[in-house]
Amino acid sequence: MRIIQCQSTQEAVELTASIMLEKVFSYPDAKIGLATGRTMEPVYEKFSHLVNDSKASLNGNFFFMLDEYKGFTINHASTFQYYINKHFVGPLKLTSDQIAFPPAHLSDGGENYEKLIKKKGGVDLQLLGIGRNGHIGFNEPGSMKNSRTRFVKLTEETLFANQDQFTDQIPTEALSMGIGTIMEAQSLLMLATGKSKADPIKYLLNHHDDPNCPATFLKDHPHFTLVLDPEAASKINLKI
Ligand code: F6R
Repeated sequence: MRIIQCQSTQEAVELTASIMLEKVFSYPDAKIGLATGRTMEPVYEKFSHLVNDSKASLNGNFFFMLDEYKGFTINHASTFQYYINKHFVGPLKLTSDQIAFPPAHLSDGGENYEKLIKKKGGVDLQLLGIGRNGHIGFNEPGSMKNSRTRFVKLTEETLFANQDQFTDQIPTEALSMGIGTIMEAQSLLMLATGKSKADPIKYLLNHHDDPNCPATFLKDHPHFTLVLDPEAASKINLKI
């Protein structure tokens, strides 16, 4: 596990976006897994600027979304599809055949998505945020290390943290890549910013393979990079 403590949130965001850019530069057919959430908004903005400024072509790249709420119509304003179209697909002018969303409207959506990931050759770089309760994707506490893409029940805590995403309807479930699925990506890149992430980051660094904090499972991954801003790193004490 590689931990990078940045001097500011901006530096952490820019570093994350530049690691993504480096991936698409070095592997023009790289498959990138995307996360949503507040943490990723400035990353996607920066990444879009870097791509547009460098005139890099993303024509050969493919993107997989990590998770999606169940029960909404396609592209409803509360869906991650809507979010990613707004913050990523639109600014980067990607075509609809360059991105896949977990098909939360299908009862066998998990199986379908796993097949698609395999068919495309797997994920090269998986971008991740971390929930205040240590979730990754929507693998809430109690999730198994070998879990695959499946429907998961959302906790009260997660619904509360994400309440500003909901307008007319509050979801109870989501289709999320499993921890086993995430662990199969070639490399993992997690970004944590802000003081609400200080406790989960402290827990992550002090525990291992702990289902109470699913992010701890990732520490076994051979290429796991954790990027922190000063607030997210404020409760840890790393000797440099
Ligand atoms: C989103 C996702 C979640 C978020 C996490 C942090 O696709 O999978 O695990 O990364 O809930 O969300 P923010 O960034 O809003 O704090």
